[in-house]
Amino acid sequence: MEHHRPVMPVEALDQLLGHRSMDRNSARGGIFVDATLGLGGHTESILEASPEARVIGIDRDAEAIALAERRLARNAERFTAVHSDYRRIKEILQGIGIESVAGILADLGISSYQLDTTERGFSFRRSSDVESGIETPAPLDMRMDRTQSLTAADLVNTLGERELADLIFKYGEERASRRIARMIVASRAKSKITTTDQLANLVIRAVHQKGHWRIHPATKTFQALRIAVNRELEGLDRFVADAVDLLEPDGRLVVITFHSLEDRIIKQALRFQSGQCQCSPNQPVCICGAVRRVEVLTRKAIQPGEDEIRSNPRARSAKLRACRKLTTGQ
Ligand SMILES: C[S@@+](CC[C@H](N)C(=O)[O-])C[C@H]1O[C@@H](n2cnc3c(N)ncnc32)[C@H](O)[C@@H]1O
Repeated sequence: MEHHRPVMPVEALDQLLGHRSMDRNSARGGIFVDATLGLGGHTESILEASPEARVIGIDRDAEAIALAERRLARNAERFTAVHSDYRRIKEILQGIGIESVAGILADLGISSYQLDTTERGFSFRRSSDVESGIETPAPLDMRMDRTQSLTAADLVNTLGERELADLIFKYGEERASRRIARMIVASRAKSKITTTDQLANLVIRAVHQKGHWRIHPATKTFQALRIAVNRELEGLDRFVADAVDLLEPDGRLVVITFHSLEDRIIKQALRFQSGQCQCSPNQPVCICGAVRRVEVLTRKAIQPGEDEIRSNPRARSAKLRACRKLTTGQ
C-alpha cells in the first residue's frame, strides 16, 4: 500500500521546528503533538528531523492509528498514539501528564488512505475485488471514526429537503443544492439511498451533466456530507485557542487546511489570538476580548509549489498557516 504522502512536509517542519529544521543538530527538540496523525507522514518527518523530539499522535480513525504505528515502529520509543478527537487535546495531554508542548501540527480533512479505501464510502468510486475483478457498490458511510453511529446514509435518508439543501449549500458551496435535495427526497421515497453510486448518479441527474467533466459533479455534495457527518468545522476555533494555551513560550502551531471554509476559521482564530479585535466596525467598544498571545508567522498562507502539485494533485488546495506563542509581555 502506498503511504499517504504528507502535504508540504518541508514547509510544515520549517514552521514547527524553526527555520533550520533540515539540520538535524539544530532542529528543536521537545514534545510535539500531531493532532491528525493519519498514516504518520508528518510525524515521521518530525522524528527524523529532530532526534530530540517526541511525538504524541492523535487520530479519530483507529485504522489509521494501526497503520501509523506500523510505519513508525522504528521510532516507537519516541512516539505515542492516541485514538481520540483533537478537539479534546487538553484532556488527552492532561491524561498523560503533559502540561505544555513545543509544537502542534494539524493537517485537517481526510487522508488519501481514507479516500482510496472505497468501502469507507468517501468517494464515488466502487470497490473492486482484486482477484475476481467484481465491483461492489460502496456503502454511503463517510465516518472517520467508525465507532460513531451517524453515517452519511442516515443524513441523506432522514433530513428534510430544506435541511439537506442548506447543508449541501453551506458545506459544499454547491449552487445546485436545492435541485439535488429535491432529487434525493424524490428518490428515497421509492427506495432508501444506501450506496455512494446511488447518490453520485442522482447528483449527476440533478445537475444535468453528461459526458466528460473536469471535476465529478458530485464532488461538492460528497464534501458537504463528509463535513456534516464528521462535524469537521465545529470547534475548530476552540481547538486553536486550546492549542495556544498548551504551547510553551516560542512554541509553534501549524495548521494545514484543504478548503476555504476551514481556512477562513483558522485565519480568523489566529488573528484573534494575535490580539486583532474581531468586533464588527459599528461596535463602539471592543467586546471580543482579543489579547495578543501569538505572533502570526504566515502573513499570507503558504501554498504548495508547482512540483508538489504535479506529483501530488491532492495538495492543490492546501494552505498552511502558523503562529508562535509569545512570552508574556513580548
Ligand atoms: C489529511 S490526514 C493527515 C495525514 C497525515 N498528516 C500524514 O502525513 O499521514 C487527516 C487525518 O486527520 C484525522 N482527523 C480528522 N478530524 C479529526 C479530529 N477531529 N480528531 C482527530 N483526528 C481527526 C483523519 O482521520 C485523518 O486521518
